[in-house]
Parts: sequence; C-alpha cells; structure tokens
Amino acid sequence: MSSNKGLLDQIINSSFAGKLGVPQGEPLHRYKKGEPYLDGPVVLAGDGRIAAGLRDRLADDYQFVDADTDIKKSAIVFDATGIKKPEDIKDLYDFFHPQMRKVRPSARFLVIGTTPDAIEDPEERIAQRAIEGFTRSLAKELLRGATAQLIYVDPAVSDDLSGVEAPVRFVLSGRSAYVDGQVIRVDDTKVTVPEDWDAPLAGKLALVTGAARGIGADIARVLHRDGADVILVDVPAAGEALAQTTNEVKGSALPLDVTAQDAAEQIKAHAEERWGRDVDIIVHNAGVTRDKLLANMDEGKWNLVQAINFIAPIRITEKLVENGGLADGGRVITLSSMDGLAGQRGQTNYAMSKAGMIGVAEALAGPLGEKGITVNAIAPGFIETAMTDAMPTATREVGRRMNSLSQGGQPLDVAEGVAFFAGNGAGAVTGQYLRVCGQHLMGA
Ligand SMILES: NC(=O)c1ccc[n+]([C@@H]2O[C@H](COP(=O)([O-])OP(=O)(O)OC[C@H]3O[C@@H](n4cnc5c(N)ncnc54)[C@H](O)[C@@H]3O)[C@@H](O)[C@H]2O)c1
Repeated sequence: MSSNKGLLDQIINSSFAGKLGVPQGEPLHRYKKGEPYLDGPVVLAGDGRIAAGLRDRLADDYQFVDADTDIKKSAIVFDATGIKKPEDIKDLYDFFHPQMRKVRPSARFLVIGTTPDAIEDPEERIAQRAIEGFTRSLAKELLRGATAQLIYVDPAVSDDLSGVEAPVRFVLSGRSAYVDGQVIRVDDTKVTVPEDWDAPLAGKLALVTGAARGIGADIARVLHRDGADVILVDVPAAGEALAQTTNEVKGSALPLDVTAQDAAEQIKAHAEERWGRDVDIIVHNAGVTRDKLLANMDEGKWNLVQAINFIAPIRITEKLVENGGLADGGRVITLSSMDGLAGQRGQTNYAMSKAGMIGVAEALAGPLGEKGITVNAIAPGFIETAMTDAMPTATREVGRRMNSLSQGGQPLDVAEGVAFFAGNGAGAVTGQYLRVCGQHLMGA
C-alpha cells in the first residue's frame, strides 16, 4: 500500500513539476559512516596562509591532485586568503573558470577567505568581502547536486589550523549534502580535533528536545551515530514514540514539557541520575506552529508558540549554565527556520520565535564563550517531513524546488548540521546560523 502510494506520488509529482517547468533535483551524495568522505580526487590550490597546513591535516582522508589534471574531481578548493587587494580578485576567475566542467556529481566547491570584519587594511577588507558574492553566485550555477561554500578564517589564524579542520571536513563531505551557498566564520580559538573523525562525539552526553519524532528523532540518531550518549526529551503524551526512538539510540527518555518551570532542574537531575554527569550538548529542537494572520490570531496561539519555541530554550539554557547542568566547553544549538529569516505570511508568532533562535546564538555566544561554550543556530529550509507532506500538491512541488539543488532536504540533513556544531572541532565557530536549505531562493 505505502509503496504504491509512493510510486503514485512520484508519478504525479514528476509530471506536475514538469508542467510547472520547475527543475528536478539530482540525487545527493550523503555521508554514510565508514565510507570515504568523498568518492574522488580533490584539488586544493591558492596562494594563501591556509592551503599548505590544511593539506597536511587532510592528507590521510583525501586524495589530492593537481589542478590541471584531466580526471573529474570531487572537490575544488581555493585558498583565497592571499588576496590582499581588489585587483587580485581575478585569481578566483583564473582558478575556477577552467575547473567548472571537470567535476563529478555532488562535487564540493570551497573558497577559504579571511573574515572581512576583522581585517584592518581597507583594500584587503574590500577584496575579501567581494568573495561572498562570487561564492553565492557560483553555488547558484552548479548542477548535479554540486555545492559551493565560503569559509572565512580570522586573520590571526595561520599556523594552528585546528579550528579550520572540522568546518572544512564538514563542507568536503556528504554531511553537508543539503547545505549550499553558505558562509561559515572561523575565529582564532584553538580546538581539540577528534581522534576518530567517524566518531567525533565519542564521550559526549547530548540532550535533544522534541526528540520523539521528525527532525528531533533524526538529530538523536545522528548524534548517537557520531558517538554521543543521548537524552531524549518530549512531552509525556509522546510516550510510545519517545520510547521507541530512545531504544533505537540506546539513550534515556525524559518525558518533559519544555515549558515546565523546573525543566532545567529536571534535566540536570536526570543527567546525573542516568549518566552520572552533566550535559555537554543541548539541542533546542522542540517547536510548534499555530499559523494565522495576525488579524485573526487569538492570544492562545501567540502565547503557545512564544512559550515553547522562544522562552523555553532561553530559560533552560540560562538555568543550565547557572546550575552547572551544562558542562564547560559545552554546545548549545537552536533550531531556527528560513521563515525566521525571510518572514512568512500567517507566521508572525512562529517567525518571531525562529528569528529569536538566531538572536540566542548571536547574544549568548559572547558571554558563554568565557566557559568555552559555543552557541549556534540551524535554519532549515524545505525539509521532507509529515508537515510538508500535508501541504497542497502545487504549493509543495514549487516549495520543494525553490532552491539551487531543486529538491527538498531530509531531516537527516538538518541533523548533520547539528552534529557539526556539536563537535569539539567546531569550537572556533560560534554566534552563527547555518542554513540547511539547498540555497533557498528566499533570503541571503
Ligand atoms: N519540518 C520542517 O520543514 C522545518 C523547517 C524549519 C524548522 N523546523 C523546526 O525544526 C524543529 C522540529 O520540527 P519537526 O518538523 O520535526 O516537528 P514535529 O512536529 O514533527 O516534532 C516536534 C516535536 O516536538 C515535540 N514538542 C512539542 N511541544 C513540546 C514541548 N512543549 N515540550 C517538549 N516537546 C515538545 C513534539 O511532541 C514533537 O515530537 C522545530 O523547531 C521546527 O520549528 C522544521
């Protein structure tokens, strides 16, 4: 029954999408534990301060080849930190132009630059800022599941590239399959990189709210896959689904409404009782929608979304830091949304809460940084879930393809973004948001 429905849906969808003239996406190469990061060779070039050290760090896991070799590559990486003045920007054209037709499906394009806001020299700052427009446009031109990203590295980073390695590995792998046209900023924090890049969260205790189903369940699975022990929180009514997901990841279930006044105390007590330790990673995933135009929205709908999506993550984080329930060097990850960035009709309450989750990352990164805690947000775009399945066919078909990869993402893709921020290796990335949206056409 379900496979027939799936087939029927596919037929309807493909002919419908064809009639609408919207492109069909290429199947994306996604990371599987134990498989190589990329299935083919990598070109890493550029006259900057990063390339040589980075090549040494990646040598065991990537096969590097010369730029002019004729075989098709899986990744094209350019260290643009050597670009110091506007005239030098032509280096981007000279390097990338001949590479454009020499790549495999799901290829990775990566430009590494210097964080413009941290550069004193005006000429260099202007040139580095220009790279963002290049990279975002490059991402929009790529075909067959290929992506392009920009990693900006603080000017103080040169010899110790520990903070650069994890972001580069994330970009140069199937873990970032549905991340496209994005910018990640790396500060000058020195980090401890994992001993085993296939189990980067080994020894960590993570807590995921709203983990019984949907995206939260996949976040729990991926954190477990990467080596973490996981506490799964969901409302008591989610009972059976929560128990099932918890068993699957060999975690512990904490039935809890995140709006409870003593939620942080319950979390700390559960972590101590079940795992004998503090939580290292907290993922604020629980969220609801109650859509109505503001003119028609009753106070109850506003209040519920505000309480669950917005106030609970702020107060739980604050209290866990206060009561020591979140370990020093910990990770706070909030779930935002494209709707929080671009706005959405009928979602003043929801979009407020989701923009607020970026606010949490931006505002708390500084103060919590003193304890080595990073705070970041993930902003998913169109993700294939029960919610998007229930949309009217036309809205769904257009929505799903309004991005550079011409398809919706999977909950797994969101979970991979969370796992990236959760790792020790991402210790030099904080106060940021990462869009997992296939470079959705709305917003930057
Ligand atoms: N699905 C998407 O396309 C999409 C896009 C952007 C952002 N998001 C965000 O991702 C997160 C997960 O979305 P989803 O689609 O998996 O949703 P979902 O409705 O499938 O799952 C949400 C989970 O949160 C739980 N929950 C709700 N209220 C709770 C509370 N008070 N206390 C504890 N748990 C509670 C629910 O029981 C449920 O298990 C949400 O924050 C959502 O806003 C989703």
